[in-house]
Amino acid sequence: MTDAAFPHRHLLGIQGLTPPEIQHLLDLADGHVDQCRGADKASDGMAGRTVINLFFENSTRTRTSFELAAKRQGAEVINMQVSTSSVAKGETLIDTAVTLNAMHPDVLVVRHPESGAVKLLAEKVNCAVVNGGDGSHEHPTQALLDALTIRRRKGRLDGLRVAICGDVLHSRVARSNIHLLTTMGTQVRLIGPRTLVPASCAAMGVEVFTNMREGLTDCDIVMMLRLQTERMTGNFIPSVREYFRFYGLDRDKLSRARPDALIMHPGPMNRGVEIDSDVADDFERSVIREQVEMGVAVRMAVLRLLAGNLDQTRRNQPFVGAGGA
Ligand code: NCD
Repeated sequence: MTDAAFPHRHLLGIQGLTPPEIQHLLDLADGHVDQCRGADKASDGMAGRTVINLFFENSTRTRTSFELAAKRQGAEVINMQVSTSSVAKGETLIDTAVTLNAMHPDVLVVRHPESGAVKLLAEKVNCAVVNGGDGSHEHPTQALLDALTIRRRKGRLDGLRVAICGDVLHSRVARSNIHLLTTMGTQVRLIGPRTLVPASCAAMGVEVFTNMREGLTDCDIVMMLRLQTERMTGNFIPSVREYFRFYGLDRDKLSRARPDALIMHPGPMNRGVEIDSDVADDFERSVIREQVEMGVAVRMAVLRLLAGNLDQTRRNQPFVGAGGA
C-alpha cells in the first residue's frame, strides 16, 4: 500500500521533495542503523522482491551498499555489469530498460553519466526507479545519507551552517545536498574557485565564497568534494598543487570552522588534492566512514518504501512493451 508520508513511485532526485517527506525517509533509515550494527542483520521486509542494479558508471560504495541494503531485507539482487551486457553491443538505454522491465523487477537502481537519463528510463518501465547518480544532476541517496549522518551527530539539520567545498559545478552530490539542506532550513555555503562554483549558484539560496578561510568561518559541517576530472573538458584549475594550497582542506583552514565542526566527504577521496590525510583520518572530526555506514541504512529505507508503494501504483499501469511509448 502506498505510504501516505511518501506517495512517490520513484526516487529520481531531492528537488521537489517536501520537508516531511525528507524527514520520513530519514526516520525510516534511522530505524535500520541498529539492525546493520547487530550480529544478525537479516530481515524479510523485501522477501520475494527483485532489485536490479544497473550501473553505466563506476561505483564502489553506492553499488555495494544498494546490494547489501536489498539483501539484508531478503530481496533478490541482480548486478548488471554494463560493460559485459548488450549495451556494449550498442543496445540503447531505453532498449535495455524495456528488456529488464519485461523480467518484472520491483526496483531498478540506475547510475548513468548523462544528466536526465535516469528520469527518461523511469518513464519506460513499470517498476520503481532509484537514481544512483545521473551525470552532474542528482544523487539523492547520497544527500539522504549525508543528512542522516549530520542529524544523528548534531541532533538537527535546521539552523546549522554547512560548507560544501570544491568542484560544485560537476557534482551531483553537491546539487542533491543543496536541495535537501536548503529545504530543511540549513544554511549552505559553497566554496571554490569561480570556475568550479559559478556565481549563478547563488540563485539556489546559498552563499558563495571564493576564499576558503572566509567561507569556513563558524561552519558546523565541512563537506569536501572530489575534483571530477572525468567530467572536465578544458582547464578548470591552474594545477593540483595550487588547488590544494587554496582549496584543499588542511588543519590550518579547518581552524576557521567551529571547534566541533565535522568533516565529510562522499568518497572516493583524492588525498593531497581536495583533502589532507591529516584531517581526513582525524576520527574526532571526520565522519567519512560513518557516511558509508549510513548509506546502507538509507538505501534499505528507500528500497523497502518504494517496493511497498509499488503494489498500488503498478495495478493501473499498462505494461510497457518493447514497441510501447
Ligand atoms: C560520488 C558520485 O559518484 O557522485 N561518489 C559516491 O557516490 N559516493 C562522488 C564522486 O564520484 O566524487
